[in-house]
Amino acid sequence: MIPKVRKAVFPAAGLGTRFLPATKAMPKEMLPLVDKPLIQYGIEEAIHSGIHNIVIVTGRGKSAIEDHFDVSFELEHLLELRKKTDLLSIVRSVSDMIDVSYVRQKEALGLGHAILRAKELVGREPFAAVLSDDVIDAEVPCLRQLLDIYEFYGTPVVALMEVPPDQISAYGVVDAEKVSHVGASGGLYRIRHLVEKPKAEDAPSNLAIIGRYILTPEVFTSIESIEPGRGGEIQLTDALRHMLRSRPIYGLKFEGKRFDAGDKLGFLKATVEFALKRHDLGNGFREYLKSVQI
Ligand code: G1P
Repeated sequence: MIPKVRKAVFPAAGLGTRFLPATKAMPKEMLPLVDKPLIQYGIEEAIHSGIHNIVIVTGRGKSAIEDHFDVSFELEHLLELRKKTDLLSIVRSVSDMIDVSYVRQKEALGLGHAILRAKELVGREPFAAVLSDDVIDAEVPCLRQLLDIYEFYGTPVVALMEVPPDQISAYGVVDAEKVSHVGASGGLYRIRHLVEKPKAEDAPSNLAIIGRYILTPEVFTSIESIEPGRGGEIQLTDALRHMLRSRPIYGLKFEGKRFDAGDKLGFLKATVEFALKRHDLGNGFREYLKSVQI
């Protein structure tokens, strides 16, 4: 039987240099997209995909993340006194739905290294990994789409997206063969090879890895066995390439729209689109945008 995915790991120890100076004293995962911190979008995606056990890999200066998912007695007491029941349920909803644990990554030595820090908390079971910079707006949550494939094949699955040639070198890139699978309408691929951030001319395809992964526990051994790669960091992409020797890995071109919210322009685009979709803000914001002289 294929073991169930119950846990999701959220690497959140990065320095957020792309967002300085906002991230000098505040974790980038706490930047608000409309009115929710970035990381909460990823956590809600996990919840809506059936995963409630959350492991956050944090670093120095990240205590705001822990506070955010903790109970705030003073705030809740005040909201109760003032009979602000709507706000009270908004404040409580996410922390009530998850069981969250934290582990520290003392040095930012790469994504693979961050995932390895979760080894003890994950144990010998499959798990999801979510990079909260990648915000995905989808009818069926992206993680759920990956889980459907995992639950069929029982091997690792990564999210894929086509990107233009001039952007490909910012991603992990795959060489893959398309396979037919009922229900994978975007396209399912069996991966032959993966490279982390190749030069455009060396990229094996235009299929980039996006920050959603279903991983099996062998990935930990694989991460332990590899040398630092691109940028001198321990790369998850390299560990997956190593894993390919012993098991198949699939890539799913997911259905949905992805925003690179770790980038200023991507963050602004996400803010505009998420705000326009909101029942309470959409109309007013649309009117405002139309009135701006550009
Ligand atoms: C990470 C991964 C990369 C992947 C990307 C998706 O890179 O290392 O393989 O394509 O996330 O967002 P980062 O953007 O953290 O440098």
